[in-house]
Amino acid sequence: MKILITGGAGFVGSSIGILLKQRYPHYQIFALDNLKRRGSELNLPRLKEAGIIFFHGDVRNPEDFNELPEINFIIEASAEPSVLAGINSTPDYLVNTNLSGTVNCLNFAVKKNANFIFLSTSRVYPINQIEKIIYEEKETRFNIKEKQNISGISLTGISEDFPLEGYRSIYGATKLCSEYLINEYQHFYNLKTVINRCGVLTGPWQMGKVDQGVVVLWMARHFWKQDLSYIGFNGSGKQVRDILHVNDLFELTDYQIHNIDKINGETYNVGGGKDVSVSLKELTHYCSEISGNTISINEVKENRTADISLYITDNSKVTAATGWEPKTGTKEILKNIYDWIKNNEQQLYPILK
Ligand SMILES: NC(=O)c1ccc[n+]([C@@H]2O[C@H](COP(=O)([O-])OP(=O)(O)OC[C@H]3O[C@@H](n4cnc5c(N)ncnc54)[C@H](O)[C@@H]3O)[C@@H](O)[C@H]2O)c1
Repeated sequence: MKILITGGAGFVGSSIGILLKQRYPHYQIFALDNLKRRGSELNLPRLKEAGIIFFHGDVRNPEDFNELPEINFIIEASAEPSVLAGINSTPDYLVNTNLSGTVNCLNFAVKKNANFIFLSTSRVYPINQIEKIIYEEKETRFNIKEKQNISGISLTGISEDFPLEGYRSIYGATKLCSEYLINEYQHFYNLKTVINRCGVLTGPWQMGKVDQGVVVLWMARHFWKQDLSYIGFNGSGKQVRDILHVNDLFELTDYQIHNIDKINGETYNVGGGKDVSVSLKELTHYCSEISGNTISINEVKENRTADISLYITDNSKVTAATGWEPKTGTKEILKNIYDWIKNNEQQLYPILK
């Protein structure tokens, strides 16, 4: 097995690469990354130590693929992953990386006859449809109600039947456009593909920042005793997301690599699900408990652009097809992140603080 991971120095790419190499030491794993994300450079020694070969390259440049060796699998994990990207600035980088870059990866996969796993996002589901979800306000979070008026939403969360018509953020749109092209390549060029529409992913080595990687950001701010804000939804902090430990995503990726014929052409919602979900208010409680620090949290009443009140993944389809389920609970995820920050405090300080 010769696997190329694009965005291979990023949080997801490096985590999956290193875990794959640990489980299958005889596999050859290559990571391509342009190191755009601040902090990805910290993963280079980790990749090297794991025996992963790093290529400094850019998915926007088809020429950069010419340098790469023979491969038979691509995990496309490169991206500008912020939902705010391109909204108050030009979308050039976003579109060129997340859409044209994916096309370059697809063309390379065709050339090498390599199978293709794509890291998509729950953000393909439109904001205006998510706003139709009926929920109730409880003491610490918003809760989905049983009776709903649109398809694809239940107490279990959002399934693949959720409507796709509407606006979703430019980030979400680049991912959905990529998904459409992947399906065309799968059908017309006989590429074997699988698409994972991931909810919030987290874990050690996520370089959390204000606009991306909220769970790590929250813990880091507690660790270094800095302020935070509940932005939007009346400053209540009741907005909810499910969270998935990257180690759990790795287990699914492992299955998908080795069972691609069974799941070829499929698109799955993938996330922590309702049992591993948390509101910002609850996140504060956990972070405070684990770090032993209490910090001040401002309340900003106005909603932030492209924000949503809740997202919970319904994993029914992926679980039925693969048997995979998330295993790591909320508290365990947070403890894991806390330990990682504590053990790498000096190295992480300039990036996370
Ligand atoms: N982290 C999440 O919560 C989450 C949720 C859903 C989907 N995803 C998707 O998962 C994938 C991985 O995200 P992540 O959390 O690891 O983000 P990340 O920013 O940590 O990793 C992305 C990597 O891609 C690299 N990159 C950016 N532009 C590039 C380019 N033009 N050429 C080559 N490399 C480039 C960055 O330097 C970075 O190392 C992305 O596709 C993202 O959209 C992430």
